[in-house]
Amino acid sequence: MPLPKAELHLHIEGTLEPELAFELAARNGVTLPYADADALRTAYRFEDLQSFLDLYYELMAVLRTERDFGDLADAYLARAAAQGVRHAEIFFDPQAHMARGVGMGTVVEGLWRALGGSQDNHGVSTRLIMCFLRDESAESAMETLEAARPYLDRIAGIGLDSAETGNPPGKFREVYEAAAALGLHRVAHAGEEGPPEYITEALDVLGVERVDHGLRCMEDPALVERLARERIPLTLCPLSNVRLRAVDALADHPLAAMLDAGLLCTVNSDDPAYFGGYAGDNFDAVRAALGLGEERLRELARNSFAASFLEHDEERRAR
Ligand code: ADE
Ligand code: ZN
Repeated sequence: MPLPKAELHLHIEGTLEPELAFELAARNGVTLPYADADALRTAYRFEDLQSFLDLYYELMAVLRTERDFGDLADAYLARAAAQGVRHAEIFFDPQAHMARGVGMGTVVEGLWRALGGSQDNHGVSTRLIMCFLRDESAESAMETLEAARPYLDRIAGIGLDSAETGNPPGKFREVYEAAAALGLHRVAHAGEEGPPEYITEALDVLGVERVDHGLRCMEDPALVERLARERIPLTLCPLSNVRLRAVDALADHPLAAMLDAGLLCTVNSDDPAYFGGYAGDNFDAVRAALGLGEERLRELARNSFAASFLEHDEERRAR
């Protein structure tokens, strides 16, 4: 029995397995520049975040209809459930779809086809987090929030992703303020490739409740001390960090040191189709590479629920 856990850092577009990509391409008359699923899989070799993002955005071309988004999310939820995931907070990138003429409604209602039945069908509760692409403008992010207004009953929070370097969190101050006024939760990727200052900025300027990745906090002892003291959750993604070369090898991953420093760490899969594993695979990998004992693994699983919006929303409701 895999350890029950929550997944808090998962891009639904990053769960597109090569086989499903080809199935959707055939269904939608899209031609992929790869001979077959195996040939595509061999392209899943990356130098850094940008080289991954180039392929990630390219393959989105196969996602066109509500049914496509529903099938994508349902396949993820089935895999996640099999690895012990009981709750999933799922990112999606509407700007990447709207730029291709696929509307916000198609994306959200499509995902909802799977998320709406997830508790009954997979035993997994869910939340949706709408991410803004930080390499697009602040105006575009604001327009995206406006486009999401009819769907806010389906969206629990906002996030910030895509190319980090040169796109500091502060660029998105206004849209985060607007989202807060709408009662949305706020998270942001920070300190994946970007410097520790971006983590501080995400906290102080955007008011985020969790930091996605946050890996590079380890370069700033005062920041580590603050994150630990304020119990700010970090959604780490160990296999992603290896594949995108944020760390040289899993054995070099600072997760154990981060736990020792008192940080509220969680382990997640990021883009599991691209990085070689789902949530349980990430747990297994750090157990093996870092020699984490049962107590540490249970701590990570406990942290994942404590850091989820589920607990937070229930606490808020109880008050
Ligand atoms: N979009 C999908 N995966 C991402 C990651 N690991 N970092 C930033 N943006 C992303
Ligand atoms: Zn991510």
